[in-house]
Amino acid sequence: MAQPPPPPLPSSQSVQELILDGGTVPERYAYKDDKTASFDESLPLTDVPAIDLGLLTASSSSSAGEELIKLRSALACWGCFHAINHGISCSFLDQLHELTKQFFALPKEEKEKCARVPDGIEGYGNDVVFSEQQVIDWNDRVYIIISPEDKRKLEVWPEKPETFREVIHEYSVKLRPVINNVFKAMALSLNLEENCFLNQFGERGVMFARFNYYPRCPRPDLVLGLKPHADGSAITVVLPDREVEGLQFQRDGQWFRVPTIPNALLINVGDQVEIMSNGIFKSPMHRAVTNAERDRISLAVFCTPEEENEIGPADELINEEMPRLYKQIRNYPETYFEYYQLGKRPIDAVKI
Ligand code: OGA
Ligand code: NI
Repeated sequence: MAQPPPPPLPSSQSVQELILDGGTVPERYAYKDDKTASFDESLPLTDVPAIDLGLLTASSSSSAGEELIKLRSALACWGCFHAINHGISCSFLDQLHELTKQFFALPKEEKEKCARVPDGIEGYGNDVVFSEQQVIDWNDRVYIIISPEDKRKLEVWPEKPETFREVIHEYSVKLRPVINNVFKAMALSLNLEENCFLNQFGERGVMFARFNYYPRCPRPDLVLGLKPHADGSAITVVLPDREVEGLQFQRDGQWFRVPTIPNALLINVGDQVEIMSNGIFKSPMHRAVTNAERDRISLAVFCTPEEENEIGPADELINEEMPRLYKQIRNYPETYFEYYQLGKRPIDAVKI
């Protein structure tokens, strides 16, 4: 393993404060080349399918077979899909959205009670700044481990709104079976034993939640909400904003807008499932753009294998035609952050 990463530079103001300050965008947030960020409604929409999770798990039905084929092709082509019929009620998802919105509307002093400490990664804050050259993302967030319960750092969990902790706990409980089913379906869609990926994730696989707040931005032509990246998770479950679009995925060098589908969860492959599937499923590059009119909110949950688990391509996916493409690795997030800070694509660290 290389040197430990340098400590992050002190973060600046929250984005929310910046806009209160008068509406011009500080240089550190702006890309020089306006082709980088541009919010462009003429970009094509993805044709990512909506997959019925209820059907996926219906054993011995022929519709399950069809749904698995759809899943496999979506993950090989886009690396993501919209999950519908996931079993979490729309009123509960609305509640999550409202609580996120209410948290960011709290006074600064209240939010700062759960601020990220200088060396920590969890808590409330803005983009972590690693170098003077880095263009900063137009995004404030709360980043916390929500499951397993004994890994929670409650000292950086918001205490307000009052129901925040209880509802997030409930979400982590509701999400666990959804995630387990997705891991099983992914394995089945590749004709693997159904627990093949789930065992790598582990019963105590970790869920990191990231509550994203993207305030409206006076220069969406120059500023990104989140810079292009692929996730370091195994899979990521995103609850997108109900109304405001902004997430985009890249395919063959072209950006595509993700349409908003009410009450669907957007699930994308992260680097670790790309590794487990020996590259059949792609961990897609994605980004969030900004817009001048409306604030945008999202909640991403990064599902990451237990730290001690060694992960690697399933044996059945390695043969003469398809040689092993990735090394075995433990605690991938560590490698991920190290590479990410250097501006390199983390998955290159484990490619053979
Ligand atoms: C992320 C992410 C998407 C969004 O947090 O890694 O890609 O729409 N979020 O906020
Ligand atoms: Ni992401």
